[in-house]
Amino acid sequence: MTMQRRDFLRNGSAAALAATALQGAKAAARPRLRLGLIGTGLRGQNHLELLLHRDDVDLVALCDIEPEMLKAALAQVDKAGKPRPQVFGENGDAQAWRRLLELKGLDGVVIATPWEWHAPMSIAAMQAKVAVGCEVVAGITLQDHWDVLRTQLGTGTPYMLLENVCYRRDVLAVLQMVRAGLFGELVHLQGGYQHDLRAVKFNGGDPARPYGGGAEFGAKGWSEARWRTEHSVRRNGDLYPSHGIGPCAMLVNIHRGNRFTRINSFASKARGLHEYVEAQGGRQHPNAAVKFSLGDVVTTTLACENGETILLQHDTSLPRPYSLGFRVQGSKGLWMDVNHSVHVEGVSPPHQWEPFEKYGQKFDHPLWKKYAAAAEGAGHGGMDFFVIHAFVEALKADAPMPIDIYDAVAWSAITPLSEQSIAEGNQTLPFPDFTDGQWKTRKPIFAFDDRY
Ligand SMILES: NC(=O)c1ccc[n+]([C@@H]2O[C@H](COP(=O)([O-])OP(=O)(O)OC[C@H]3O[C@@H](n4cnc5c(N)ncnc54)[C@H](O)[C@@H]3O)[C@@H](O)[C@H]2O)c1
Repeated sequence: MTMQRRDFLRNGSAAALAATALQGAKAAARPRLRLGLIGTGLRGQNHLELLLHRDDVDLVALCDIEPEMLKAALAQVDKAGKPRPQVFGENGDAQAWRRLLELKGLDGVVIATPWEWHAPMSIAAMQAKVAVGCEVVAGITLQDHWDVLRTQLGTGTPYMLLENVCYRRDVLAVLQMVRAGLFGELVHLQGGYQHDLRAVKFNGGDPARPYGGGAEFGAKGWSEARWRTEHSVRRNGDLYPSHGIGPCAMLVNIHRGNRFTRINSFASKARGLHEYVEAQGGRQHPNAAVKFSLGDVVTTTLACENGETILLQHDTSLPRPYSLGFRVQGSKGLWMDVNHSVHVEGVSPPHQWEPFEKYGQKFDHPLWKKYAAAAEGAGHGGMDFFVIHAFVEALKADAPMPIDIYDAVAWSAITPLSEQSIAEGNQTLPFPDFTDGQWKTRKPIFAFDDRY
C-alpha cells in the first residue's frame, strides 16, 4: 500500500508526539536513532516509507543486491527530502550487508530480506551490537532458532520480530477484551495464514508487475517469486506461522506464565500451485513439471501448559479471499474474525452472534486511539505503522522489545517443528522451552498502554 504525502506528515508528528509521551514516563535513552535497512524489496520499501517520515530516525544506510530495488528505495528517500544514505550491495555482492554493519554509530537495522538470510544477518548484527528489527521469520532450521536466541542472550543486543498482525486494530481490541475478562478463561484459539499467494509465488519476472502475469519463479521471477516459491517446492509444513500465532500467543501469555508444550501438523495434498502454473503458462511450461512438496492446507495444533489448544492453518496455494481465521474462545464467550462477530454469555442473545463493531469501539486499544490518524495509509490497514513505531520507541527508551527474542524463536520455530511432524507421519513432538524455565516467572509487557 502506498502512503500519501499528508500521511507522511502525520507520521512525522505522531513520532514526535510519541517521543514526548515517552519522555514523560522515562527520559529517552536515545532521542534519535541512526538506522539501516537491509533488503529494499517490496516489504523493505514499506518500512522505509515509515522510517523516512519519522522525526526521530536518521536512515543512514541501505543495502540490497538488486539494482531496481535499490533505485526504488533511493527514489523514496529523495521524495521524502531526506539526505541520501550510504548504499551497499550495488555490485550484487550478497555479503555487502556485513560492511553496512561495520558503520560507526549505527543503532539498529531493519532486516527485510528473503527468509534464509534472516538468521545470519540478525546474528551478525547482534554480534556487532547493532539492534535488530527482523521481518518474520527468525530462521529456517530449528538450529537457526537456537543460534539466534543464544546470540541475543550472549550479546544482550535488542532484537524484535516485526510481527505486524499483533498490532491489527481488532486483534488489539480483542486483547483488551480478554484482559477485561469478557470471554472468561481462554480455552481454545485459532489463527493462521490463509492468503492466496499464487500470484505472489509466480509472475512474469517483470519489475513493473510483481503479482501474477506468468508462471515463472526462481531466477526468472521477480520479488518474492524469486525466493519464496522455492520453499513450496522443497518444504512441507506451516511455512509462515507468526501472523496467526503471534496474536494467539500474546492472548494466552506465552513465555509469561504459559508456554507451548506439544505440536503436531497435518498436510493436505498439493494441487493448487501446479494447477496455477498450467493455467498461467500452459501444460508445456517447464514449471508444469515441478513437483511441489507443500500441502495446500497445513493444519498445526499446539498444546499449552495452561490447558489451551491453538490451531493454525497455512493455506496459500488455493483460490480464497484473505482471512487469518482468528477464533478466540473462552469459558464465557468468543470472537471470530471471519464473520466479524462476538458472542458473550449473558450479554449476547442466547446462541446468537453480535456484530464485532460495538465491542471493537468500546475496547479500542489506547495505541489505536492515539495513533489511528498516523497509521492511516500505512501498510496492511495501518498495523505496519505500529510495529515499526514499537521497535523505534523501545530502542530509543532502552526498554524491552514488546515482541522479544523468546516470542520470535518460538513462533518461528513452529515451521521446522511442523515440517518434522509431517515428515514423521504427523508425530506429536515436544515443544522446546526456549526460556529455560523462565516462562514461569516472566510477566506480560506487550501493549499495556499507549506508548508501544
Ligand atoms: N509482515 C508482513 O506483513 C510482510 C509482508 C511482506 C513480506 N514480509 C517479509 O519481508 C521479507 C521480504 O519480503 P519482500 O516481499 O520484500 O521480498 P522481496 O523479494 O520483494 O525483497 C527482498 C529483497 O531482499 C534482497 N536481498 C536478497 N538477498 C540479499 C542480500 N544477501 N543482501 C541484501 N539484500 C538481499 C532482494 O534483492 C530483494 O530486493 C520476507 O521475510 C517476507 O516474509 C512480511
